[in-house]
Amino acid sequence: MSKYARITGWGKYVPERRLTNFDLEKMIDTSDEWIRTRTGIRERRIAAPGETCCSMSLASARQALAMAHLPPSDVELIIVATSTPDYLVPAVASMVQDRLGAGNAPAFSLQAGCTGWVYALVTASQFIQTGAYRNVLVIGTEHLSVGVDWTDRATCVLFGDGSGAVVLEASDQPTGLLSFDLGSDGSDYDALIFPGCAGVHPPSHDVINQRLHYLRMDGRRVFKFASRVLADSVRKVVIDSGLTIDDIALIIPHQANDRIIELARRRLKVPPEKMMVNIDRYGNTSAASIPLALVDALDEGRIQPGDRVVFVGFGAGLTWAAAAFHWEPQEPMSIPVLDWPVRERLAQPVARARTALWSARISLATKVEPLLLPLYGFAAGYRKRRKKE
Ligand code: UT7
Repeated sequence: MSKYARITGWGKYVPERRLTNFDLEKMIDTSDEWIRTRTGIRERRIAAPGETCCSMSLASARQALAMAHLPPSDVELIIVATSTPDYLVPAVASMVQDRLGAGNAPAFSLQAGCTGWVYALVTASQFIQTGAYRNVLVIGTEHLSVGVDWTDRATCVLFGDGSGAVVLEASDQPTGLLSFDLGSDGSDYDALIFPGCAGVHPPSHDVINQRLHYLRMDGRRVFKFASRVLADSVRKVVIDSGLTIDDIALIIPHQANDRIIELARRRLKVPPEKMMVNIDRYGNTSAASIPLALVDALDEGRIQPGDRVVFVGFGAGLTWAAAAFHWEPQEPMSIPVLDWPVRERLAQPVARARTALWSARISLATKVEPLLLPLYGFAAGYRKRRKKE
C-alpha cells in the first residue's frame, strides 16, 4: 500500500478584470497609499458576471489534472475549500465534479475560512495515507467580490477572487506530506463573519437593510491572532518533521496582509526570499490564496524538486493550519528509500505512531469512563456523607 501523499499537478485561475487601488479611490474614501502601506495590496481580480466559484474551480482544476496527466474520470475524490460557493446547498464540489466529467469521484466542500485549503490538503492526505484513495483533487476558490460590502472601506479594499488547485497522489517513496498542524479557536467566531442570511439571522428585508449579508471583520483582532499563530504553526510542523527552519526552502503563507507575513518572517528569523508574497497582485483571496501563491512560486522557479516547503493559513473560525511538504512532483522511482535523509524517513512513522497513541488513549478513555461512572457516584456520595458528619 502506498503511504505517502505528494503533489503531482497544480493550476490556478484568476479573473481577467483588475481592480486597482486607484480604481477604489474613485469609489470610496480611501487611497492607494493607505492600502499599500497597511496591507501590501496594489490590485485584486474581480469575477465577471457569470463567473462563479464553480467556473473558477473548473479552470484551475483542469490545469492541475492536465499537469498530473490524470483524466477526470480517474479522479477518486474532490474537495473544494471555499466560503463563497455558488449555493449554500448543494456543495459546489458536486457541481465541479459533474462539470469536470469526474463521474467516479465523491465530492464535498470544506469550510474553514482562509485556512480552508490547508485543511482540505491535510484531509485529502489522510485518505491517501490510509489507502482509501490513490488520488484527490484539492481546490481552493473564492468569489469574495459578491460577499464584500462595497461601501465598507475597512473590508472591500482587501479581498479578491480566484482559484488554485492541486492533485495529490499516493507514493511508495517517503515524500510529500511530512507533518501538519490544524487548529481552531471558536471563542473568536465573530471576528470574521457573514452574520446574515443563515440560521441566526434568516433572510429578511431587515437583514438586508442592515447589510448583515456582507462580510464583517474586526481587523485588529484578526491581525493580533494571525501574527501569533502564523509563526507558531510553522515552527510546530518544522519540528514535527524532524527539520530545522533552515531546511525549509520556502514558506507559503495565506496572503492577508504583508505586515502579518513580515512579522512572522522576523519571528522565524528567515530571509525575505524564503517567504512567498504575492498579495500585491491578488489581494486576500481567502481559501484560494495559498494555492495561488504556490503556483506563482513554482512559475518563478522558487521551488525545486527535493525542497521542503511549508503552507500556513489562518482566518475565520478562528482557524489556523500548517503543512510541511517534501516537494517531489515526479515519482522518485530511481532513489532507493535508504538514500533519503534519516529524519525524513522517520518523520512520517513517528507522526503516525503519535496519532495511533492518541487514538488509543481516546478509545481507552471512552471504554473505561462508563465503568468508572458508578465509582464517581459512590465517591461523591461518600464525600457528601463525610461533610454532613
Ligand atoms: O484573511 C483572513 C484573515 N484576515 C486578516 O488576517 C486581516 C487582519 N487585519 C488586517 O490586515 C488589518 O487589521 C487591516 C488591513 C484590516 C486594517 O489595518 P489596521 O492597520 O489594523 O487599520 P485599522 O482598522 O486600525 O484602521 C486604522 C485607520 C482608521 O482610522 P482612524 O480611526 O485611525 O481615524 C480606519 O478608519 O484607518 C482607517 N481605514 C482606512 N483608511 C483609508 C480603514 N480602512 C481604510 C481604508 N482607507 N480602506
